[in-house]
Amino acid sequence: MNHADSPPPPSGRTPAFHGSSLELTGLSLAYGSFDVVRDVSFEVRPGSTTCVIGPSGSGKSTLLRGINRLHEPKSGEVLVAGEAASTMVPEKLRQRIGLVFQHFNLFPDHTALDNVALALWKVKGMPRAAARERAGRALAEVGLAERAGHRPRDLSGGQQQRVAIARALAMEPEVMLFDEATSALDPELVKGVLNLMAGLGERGMTMVVVTHEMGFARRAADQVVFMDEGEVVERGAPEALFERPQSPRLQRFLSEVL
Ligand SMILES: Nc1ncnc2c1ncn2[C@@H]1O[C@H](COP(=O)(O)OP(=O)(O)OP(=O)(O)O)[C@@H](O)[C@H]1O
Ligand SMILES: [Mg+2]
Repeated sequence: MNHADSPPPPSGRTPAFHGSSLELTGLSLAYGSFDVVRDVSFEVRPGSTTCVIGPSGSGKSTLLRGINRLHEPKSGEVLVAGEAASTMVPEKLRQRIGLVFQHFNLFPDHTALDNVALALWKVKGMPRAAARERAGRALAEVGLAERAGHRPRDLSGGQQQRVAIARALAMEPEVMLFDEATSALDPELVKGVLNLMAGLGERGMTMVVVTHEMGFARRAADQVVFMDEGEVVERGAPEALFERPQSPRLQRFLSEVL
């Protein structure tokens, strides 16, 4: 493949994405009678990055799943570019809001290119040639143009996660959600994926990132949301939250993780 016309690498500053605004108002989610996320409200400006931090079991993953309706909210609303998510066909919503998980779930028997292209022709109904072409661009976007023909087993964990990110990007989402996207990676691979994510944010993607990487949150977030027991306990700019935590719960959490 010729990469001369590839978009700038993720570290570039050229705006490439047109992230939409995301607004959560009074969002609540439950498993049966167990309220797991309670009355969560916050706004994510277009092209900004919000990091969600908090102890295990505080409802962070459930919150993300509620945003793109993998788990139907019990009450409250999610607005994407001002439009109510509850009124959208879920499949359409999930094209607009991409989600990248800890475990990337690539198809082992498909190349990186086909892993990215598959959803484009299956979900978006794109012709195969066009899907492959866009998949190639998405792989270039995450710095993997040279690895397009490799199967997942011939890629490192970090590269596999980048394929998963390319797969989400190829859908041209307006918002990207990341759930512990680097937790399953070997330590030496974490930084590359975090840098890639930071690059997407710098280039205009709207992102909500659940992470245990406090360094990333401090460096890349425009806003940090601290959750505990299903609630937003504190929210603000990273400097304020990390340097001057107000609530005893956040103070305790930071003393444990920093
Ligand atoms: N399928 C389920 N059925 C019932 N309860 C669940 C289910 N999934 C999660 N929970 C519970 O919901 C709560 C929130 O879980 P969630 O996975 O959202 O937390 P989290 O903040 O993402 O935690 P972690 O940091 O460990 O990933 C926990 O008490 C969890 O046990
Ligand atoms: Mg989780």
